[in-house]
Amino acid sequence: MKLSGGSARVKALMERMTLAEKLGQLTMLADGLVETGPPGPHNPFTMIEEGRVGSLLNVWGPHLVREAQRKAVEETRLGVPLFFGLDVVHGHRSIHPTPLAEAGAFDRELWEATARDSAIEAALDGVHMTFAPMIDVARDARWGRIVECAGEDPFVNAEFGRARVRGYQALDEKGRMRLAACAKHFCAYGAVLAGRDYAEADVSWRGLEEIYLPPFHAAVEEGVAAIMPAFTDVAGVAMTAHKRLLRDVLRARWRFDGLVVSDYHAVAELIDHGVAADLAEAAALALDAGVDIDMMGDAYALGLPQALERGLVSMEQVDAAVRRVLTFKEALGLFDDPYRNMASEPAKGLAPERRALAQEAARRSIVLLENRDGYLPLRAAPRRLAVLGPLADAANDQLGPWASAGAGEDATTILAALRAAFAGSDVVHAPGSDFNAADAALLEAARAACAGADAVVLCIGESRMMSGEATSRTKPEIPSAQLEVARIALACGAPVVLALNCGRPLALPDWLVEGARAIFACWHAGTQAGPAFADILTGACDPSARLAVSWPVNAGQTPIFYGVRPTGRPHDPANGWSTGFFDAPFAPRWSFGQGLSYARVSRSAPRLDRSELGADDLLTISLDVTNESAHETSETIFLLSRDPVAAVTRPLLELRDFAKVRLKGGETRSVRFVLRARAFSYLDENQKPRLDAGVIQLHVGASARACDLARVDVTIRP
Ligand code: NOJ
Repeated sequence: MKLSGGSARVKALMERMTLAEKLGQLTMLADGLVETGPPGPHNPFTMIEEGRVGSLLNVWGPHLVREAQRKAVEETRLGVPLFFGLDVVHGHRSIHPTPLAEAGAFDRELWEATARDSAIEAALDGVHMTFAPMIDVARDARWGRIVECAGEDPFVNAEFGRARVRGYQALDEKGRMRLAACAKHFCAYGAVLAGRDYAEADVSWRGLEEIYLPPFHAAVEEGVAAIMPAFTDVAGVAMTAHKRLLRDVLRARWRFDGLVVSDYHAVAELIDHGVAADLAEAAALALDAGVDIDMMGDAYALGLPQALERGLVSMEQVDAAVRRVLTFKEALGLFDDPYRNMASEPAKGLAPERRALAQEAARRSIVLLENRDGYLPLRAAPRRLAVLGPLADAANDQLGPWASAGAGEDATTILAALRAAFAGSDVVHAPGSDFNAADAALLEAARAACAGADAVVLCIGESRMMSGEATSRTKPEIPSAQLEVARIALACGAPVVLALNCGRPLALPDWLVEGARAIFACWHAGTQAGPAFADILTGACDPSARLAVSWPVNAGQTPIFYGVRPTGRPHDPANGWSTGFFDAPFAPRWSFGQGLSYARVSRSAPRLDRSELGADDLLTISLDVTNESAHETSETIFLLSRDPVAAVTRPLLELRDFAKVRLKGGETRSVRFVLRARAFSYLDENQKPRLDAGVIQLHVGASARACDLARVDVTIRP
């Protein structure tokens, strides 16, 4: 989006604006349909009348939006329309799986389709900007916000971000983007110390270039309308004031000409970071770094007049930000059509096609982690099925955090779906416990429910409030009250299907992993989580999701991810003087890419179209994938590489591409990846890109585990 030009209309408007009106355009305030940060002292509606606010967040629905917009266009001196922002992170009214879950579909078309659908729903509710996609690479299960991103891998976050931007920003009937995307949180928020939300992130420049920046670069290449800097600092420089990253990298190097919207109250928080003495300094630092909009703070409104007086910023800088905001509104068509795309009345219920997409997305996001003795799918209906756990019938919780306008009453729970799927069976339910508190009577009822059951579905994990913002946990585990329910389930002797509902990877006790007959990561799969789970359990569809994030054996292993560097003493279980843990395995419980299906799929050895590669050449890697079973399935193939000798230490494996291939029973299809030689270049010790002569190993297969990968080498001759 090109916002710096400024049309004749924008120029004329700016000539008539007072300083207070200009600063109003740079101010975004929250009104409280949901609370996504500390409430402020403002009354946004009075401030609209006074022209002191340019955009609102957390307000949606035709009635509220229309009323606020009417005030802005009819009752203010200049009649400048507002724009409305909201965290439409995984659906609006129809809630899709959380991003970490949907990332596991490894399907760019699905990622785009769900974003497009949410944009349609949100636009009907008067929303113009979503604070999404969230593309912070996250490797630490202690951090609650891991749920919002696409997992541990930079390439996956980049591809996810691209697809989301395409989906949200898909054009409406009048050729305007339906929802402007705001990629967040730029950058390295996922690296907060000890997974503690809002803590510092001490990341090297190499870490930024290789891990945290690529997803944002991809979003910018895809034309994202806005960027939100992280609340946090990077190596001591607060992101809201980070000139090198916001100006030199984002604006100059990547030529980003969209809006920069601060995070909630983040400009004023520069004082708490200890880099500004007062609001004037805070506002000047942020504006100077290129932040256009001050979300939910008075820093710009109160601080910039003083900053101008003190000469900390210039009027040209203020004008440049105002011009971008007004040009953004103009590009959305708000001056001519302030009520654009909005329904006249709030939607009643969900459109069937949206519900169907939510179910499809959930089916493709639920990961089958264990399936002992091929127990699943359940071919015959159990005579008596015990459905246990506080998450079996938790319509609100299955929506997950950041569920926007999603409503529990629109959701179908696992219990309801299993009752429908096994209509002739005796389906009994007992929660067994609360999320965190044990209760003897509830446990007793769970024991009674298990008596005589020939199968148990155990739904435990995290409530929706246990992940998301400000939900860091030192122990990303199942609360002990729920483990008591698990003990009862395992003790009854019937096969137990463990359905983990959670926002993050959980460290599970060995006895639970070993005792369960089958294990699913159901995540918080949204409105249609229940029917999707029932479809997979009964075999109506094949589980096809794979993990976008590694699951640790225990909390002490975190952060854990596949793309580590070798070290001088690479892990060797036979050598006590090698890297690893004295009291825990080196490998995670389940690695990036793992996930089972009901089908049996084989892969041929990977083939290359050439064994040597010049600097400008393309390389094609192909292989055949065969479904050896009768079940229709979707297989995910990952292409990773390793540079065994370089000027700096390179990760043991780096993801280069992935593909999803749909296979009927007995079918063989070939998968092709095309890479440029430049993909294997890296930054040397002086941060200069370099492509070395020598061998690159290519590893192709079903997950990041060595046992799932086949290797073929190519020689680079630049
Ligand atoms: C704070 C969060 O960090 C950000 O992700 C969100 O978009 C804003 N609040 C607005 O709700």
